Amino acid sequence: MPKTIKYGFIGAGFVARFHLASILHIRDIEIAGIVAHRGAHELAKLTKYWGIGEAIVYDSIAEMAEQVDVLAIFTPNQTRVAVMEEIAAAVRDGAELKGVICEKPLGRNLAEARRLVDLAAEAQLSTAYFENQLFMKAIRIQKTQLAGVEQQMGPLSLARSSEEHCGPHENWFWNPTRQGGGVLSDMGCHSIAVGRYVLTPFERGLTFLEPVSVNAEVGLLKWGEPYWRDKLLRERNVDYRQTPAEDFATGIITYRNPQTGQKVKAQFTNSWMFDKQGLRLLMDGMGPGYAFEINTLVSPLTLFIADSAAEAIEDAESALEKATSSRGLLTIQCNEPDLYGYMDENVDALEAFRQGRDAMLPWKYGLEVTRLVMASYLSAERKRTVDLTDPAVMQELESYVPLIQQGRGAEQLY
Ligand SMILES: NC(=O)c1ccc[n+]([C@@H]2O[C@H](COP(=O)([O-])OP(=O)(O)OC[C@H]3O[C@@H](n4cnc5c(N)ncnc54)[C@H](O)[C@@H]3O)[C@@H](O)[C@H]2O)c1
Repeated sequence: MPKTIKYGFIGAGFVARFHLASILHIRDIEIAGIVAHRGAHELAKLTKYWGIGEAIVYDSIAEMAEQVDVLAIFTPNQTRVAVMEEIAAAVRDGAELKGVICEKPLGRNLAEARRLVDLAAEAQLSTAYFENQLFMKAIRIQKTQLAGVEQQMGPLSLARSSEEHCGPHENWFWNPTRQGGGVLSDMGCHSIAVGRYVLTPFERGLTFLEPVSVNAEVGLLKWGEPYWRDKLLRERNVDYRQTPAEDFATGIITYRNPQTGQKVKAQFTNSWMFDKQGLRLLMDGMGPGYAFEINTLVSPLTLFIADSAAEAIEDAESALEKATSSRGLLTIQCNEPDLYGYMDENVDALEAFRQGRDAMLPWKYGLEVTRLVMASYLSAERKRTVDLTDPAVMQELESYVPLIQQGRGAEQLY
């Protein structure tokens, strides 16, 4: 019988709950501890209720690190480096960890992401960068289903990937100096990773395709308008007059296949101004003579609730992430942790840590995603195509902090 691996969660908010719901369906992971400023006791109660661990609430990462095999960083973006420094110190003090997980993004900029990679290497920890969308069953299955066609006809040459919803659930996401920017930092990292992954020929490595250039734009299309700006100030305590972030981002990244020289393109689009049913992931790919398409708002289950019955509706968000309405024609997804890939990424990390190796997506991969996100901000800021083969640009990106992240977004967005 394989041994149960003990996990310690750092953070007990929205994403921690998604992971808990995934782990419920996975054998051999036990939630042994939780450290969080807020929500730890509620999550511990749910963990025990679901029978997936004792979930002892600890006061510090150092204490919890002594009692678990794996630490999972599920705290806000601005805490990444400090949290990882505590983990590295705990290892130096004798904690015997098998691995460490970090939710996307690895860092708010390249310097932070690199610091995380270095700290994990110094502590000799196996790593898992949690980019759930690469583990979506629909993404994986289209790849295997189309492998034969691809071999005969040639690889995909165009990928389009988007993630959109009506805006984040916690105040810190809206604050560009804390979160790292707006929707490009928050969700562009997903869509950029998906685009490169789906274009990558079958069974080639994650960084096989070489980035050539990026051309991106960002905009503040909804939340900068007076009515919505006032609402943000009232409800989220962020002033988009002074320190705005982008609520829309789009761009095209060109890659080169190093074996054939073929150029392929991945377009990403992200927004926090998607006023439809709730979260939508839309991805497609075009190859010579074949294609795929994924739309997570297409579900086998829809409900209709008339105004006259709307008072009786259950909480809308228990039916679909970021649901915006509780009446009318509603899309329901019955197993979102599975649909979005959280379950499969947890299975992958568990297997990797058991075998003493990095997960499919190590932190070094997260660093590469951060590089492309930063290049996209640079392109939008300078209003030009950024050449990703230019060593001077690569050097500049190492220390680049986007204007929006610096809190100077008004100079760019208005
Ligand atoms: N993969 C995805 O699609 C996805 C979705 C949502 C969030 N995320 C990522 O997960 C991370 C957490 O996001 P969330 O939505 O769960 O945020 P959240 O605000 O809902 O929860 C954050 C949790 O961390 C705790 N916390 C904050 N600072 C802490 C610290 N220094 N030490 C210990 N605990 C601390 C909070 O009390 C809370 O329990 C973010 O990096 C976010 O980008 C990923």
